[in-house]
Parts: sequence; structure tokens; C-alpha cells
Amino acid sequence: MGKLRLAVLLSGAGTTLQNLIDRSRAGDPYDIAVVIGSKPDAYGLERAKQAGLPAVCVARKNSLNTDAYNDALWAEIRKHDVTHIVLAGFLHMLRVPEDFQHKIVNIHPALLPSFGGKGMYGLHVHEAVLEYGAKVTGCTVHFVDEKYDTGPIILQKCVEVREDDTPETLQARVQETEREALPEALRLIAEGRVTIEGRNVRIR
Ligand code: GAR
Repeated sequence: MGKLRLAVLLSGAGTTLQNLIDRSRAGDPYDIAVVIGSKPDAYGLERAKQAGLPAVCVARKNSLNTDAYNDALWAEIRKHDVTHIVLAGFLHMLRVPEDFQHKIVNIHPALLPSFGGKGMYGLHVHEAVLEYGAKVTGCTVHFVDEKYDTGPIILQKCVEVREDDTPETLQARVQETEREALPEALRLIAEGRVTIEGRNVRIR
């Protein structure tokens, strides 16, 4: 398929973005065309600027409903001629237009369908895993559909939960697997090895 041209959407620190910047510069088959943040103070926007990438804030103001916010997001995304979109800690619903079906990828810090859905982001996810007493967690890379965290799963990686874990220590180990899983999924897509049958993703 050749190199992907990505828009990366984020709301926070941007360590996921930083990993993609580093990997793409080390030869991974994707370029980052634009970084879009949902808050002006999202540190990920600063990382983008430091890397010399276009960084745009499309703020989710309370006055904007989901449709209006999506219109604003898509108006920005479409300026950059991207082939795929990565949600890298982006905390809002991104609607999927027909031409971006199976072209938007999300990384979630748990093994979906457990510990997903609205409000399940960042440390909250790891708090919920520990509170529930799960013995295994991990990360999931999946295509985005019309709901939170329900789209076809591209790949997952497991992490053992330890008895002395805190949300922070668990998050750190899950994020190590995220750093491998997301680039791996993007490489598979760029290599044209990913096909989708119903909600089953096949890797050739
Ligand atoms: C990542 O761990 C990502 O998996 C998670 O937010 C973090 C963003 O960190 N995403 C979600 O929880 C989505 N529901 P970052 O801003 O440092 O990249």
C-alpha cells in the first residue's frame, strides 16, 4: 500500500504521538501530516511543534455539540490530504464518514471489550482493572466505528496484573505494550496485510 499519511488526534500528554514521531523518523511506513488537539494546553501539541509538524487546536467547547464539533474536526482533517487517522489519547467521539471506514485507528489501554466505553480513559481504566481484581490486562488497537471502543480489533497485547500494582505502575507497563502495538498495527495496514470480514480482522 505504501506509506500512510496520518492525522493524529489527541487530548493529553502525547507520549503516543511522540512514539509515532520517533518511529516514523526511524523508517516506519507512515508520515504524520497533522496533529490535532482538543485542548489548547494539550502537551501533545507542543511535542508536534517541537518536531516541526503542523499542530492545530480544534477545541471542544461546551457550546459545541458532537455534530458541530465533528464538522470542525473534519474540516481541519480534510485540509491535509491524509489517508488514515490515529486517535492517540483523544477523548471525544469522532464520526466515521464513508470514505474513512476502517481508516481510523484507536489505541485503548485495556483488553476490549473489558474496561472500555465512555469515561474509560487514561488512569481511570487502570483503576477500574485493579478495583475489579482482573489478573490480566493489556492494550487493544482497533478500527473506530460509531461507538466508543467497539470497532473491529486489529491486535491486542497482554500484561499481567501484579498484587502490588498501583494504577500508575500498571499504566506504565501497559503503555510499554502500547508503544509496540500501535506501530505494529500501522505497519500491517501500510503493508496491505489487513483485511476485514464483518468484525473480524484478518492479518495475512
Ligand atoms: C494512552 O495510554 C492511550 O491508550 C489512552 O490514553 C493515553 C494517552 O496518553 N487512551 C484512552 O484511554 C482512550 N480511551 P498520551 O497522551 O501520553 O499519548
